[in-house]
Amino acid sequence: MTRVGPSLFGVIGRKAGTLPGYNFSTAMKDYGVTWSPETLNTYLAAPMQEVKGTKMTFAGVKDETERANIIAYLATLK
Ligand code: HEM
Repeated sequence: MTRVGPSLFGVIGRKAGTLPGYNFSTAMKDYGVTWSPETLNTYLAAPMQEVKGTKMTFAGVKDETERANIIAYLATLK
């Protein structure tokens, strides 16, 4: 399967930048948060501002409801 980023299966509860076998940026490895609905909400609002140097080149999701829906979906991936 072709992927542009790390698998997000089980992402909630995992420390950022630690999924085995994925080559994260130093910025993501150093981010230090554990992914939760709250930390995902902060990150997804503006990934490249929040994690300077991330290789996730994505402007983010400005709409709060849209972010909440995405995070609710991610919570089902376990
Ligand atoms: C709403 C859409 C997206 C969500 C919810 C999302 C979520 C995430 C999360 C939570 C991480 C950190 C994973 C971890 O620490 O285990 C991540 C990393 C990453 N994502 Fe996304 N992402 C999205 C869109 C994208 C897009 C559009 C791209 C490609 C342009 C992308 C490429 C990446 C890459 C390359 C990383 C690794 C970042 C690094 O090592 O600095 N993502 N994504």
